[in-house]
Amino acid sequence: MNVTLTPTHNGPYLVKGCITLLDAQGNQYEVSETIALCRCGHSNTKPFCDGTHETTSFAAVNRAAASI
Ligand code: FES
Repeated sequence: MNVTLTPTHNGPYLVKGCITLLDAQGNQYEVSETIALCRCGHSNTKPFCDGTHETTSFAAVNRAAASI
């Protein structure tokens, strides 16, 4: 199964698919097949998004380069 990672508009990375998520010490998080990873740096539940980005001025809208 493919895993997709989508940087959402002004929000988290949305990850869909079966992944293994480890902390810096190699301990495994229990995760479902759809998770949101914080990229604003303000979540109180890192590495997961807790919605706090909506109360900050975090702004990031990413676009892949158009292929020819
Ligand atoms: S991206 Fe949602 S709390 Fe950081």
